[in-house]
Amino acid sequence: MLAHLLARASIDSIVIESRTRAEIEATIRAGVLEQGTVDLMTEAGLGERLAREGQVHHGIRFRFNEGFHRIDLSALTGKSITIYAQHEVLKDLVKARLDAGGPIYFSAQTLSFHDLETDTPALRFLQHGKEAEIACDFIVGCDGASGAARHAIPVGALRVFERDYPFGWFGILVAAPPSAPELIYASHERGFALISTRSPEVQRMYFQCDPEESPDSWSEDRIWSELHGRVSGADFRLVEGKIFQKGVIRMRSFVAEPMHYGRLFLAGDAAHIVPPTGAKGLNLAIADAFLLSRALSTFYSAGRRDLLDSYSEMALARVWRAQHFSWWMTSMLHRFEGVSDFDRRRQHAELEMVAASPTMLAENYVGLPF
Ligand code: DHB
Repeated sequence: MLAHLLARASIDSIVIESRTRAEIEATIRAGVLEQGTVDLMTEAGLGERLAREGQVHHGIRFRFNEGFHRIDLSALTGKSITIYAQHEVLKDLVKARLDAGGPIYFSAQTLSFHDLETDTPALRFLQHGKEAEIACDFIVGCDGASGAARHAIPVGALRVFERDYPFGWFGILVAAPPSAPELIYASHERGFALISTRSPEVQRMYFQCDPEESPDSWSEDRIWSELHGRVSGADFRLVEGKIFQKGVIRMRSFVAEPMHYGRLFLAGDAAHIVPPTGAKGLNLAIADAFLLSRALSTFYSAGRRDLLDSYSEMALARVWRAQHFSWWMTSMLHRFEGVSDFDRRRQHAELEMVAASPTMLAENYVGLPF
């Protein structure tokens, strides 16, 4: 995304990608795009298939105490969300970039970063058995939570904030029509469940599980009985179908501050990770890309460094709002082992409070303005 936005400002970039095109285009991740993400893709000329295939949703539903509570996102905020899988976004970005002739080096491993404190940083990488070096003006680490970029920053120059969660999500893709017209976030004695969608024929569902759970020890019958137990009831029944993908997602909150060191800038998961509840991960990365594209184009067009200097502070303001939101959604909806009956009742009261006063949740769910 950053490479596209830079190209529109006539700034050259090279994308170094550690995996193959096929791998990144097949990795299943979340699927909720905030309004700001959709608008940015559209403005950047990347929204053609998104407009055709994305499903616009105007509300979400919470299920607890055997009832449904709808949050009318559009009535509360004037905005909506779009369901469009992250790997579909990647397919669109990669294709548009390659069509424009923009270089993407796939299967390339970053080896080392050099001279980050100077105006002429460099990066060495390995691709198809050959080493090469790129001399550049800036390096942006968009290489994820376990990427090399953050580790190139000297210990002591970064402050790290983190929190682990004692559960994960079991995620499945199902060949079935939607069980409901909108996403369902369910809080149940047995644990959290989320009923999402991908297309009229494919549904995405998750349920809270042990983070060490092995997907292979779950038969289709066992998965359905767990999901029905948490979501189905007298008023509603999940639609079953063939499960054709399953996996366990770990959950973590993480922030590294500041999001730059000299001429190395961090964006997306390289600097921050949120637990998936609320689907903020991709949207935060896109917001970072937007801020960096603006800061870099101002640097090149006007010789101004102020937006580069304030990038970290501006990005982190949004990151911490999303950290709080994702932690809050996670704490409100999941079952925590060993908590008292008091805490269970308190969790339900919190959900009742949100159902009665949903504006704050709705504003954060559709995304803060870019
Ligand atoms: C999806 C993932 C999320 O984390 C979420 O909060 C909502 C939907 C999804 O994959 O569809």
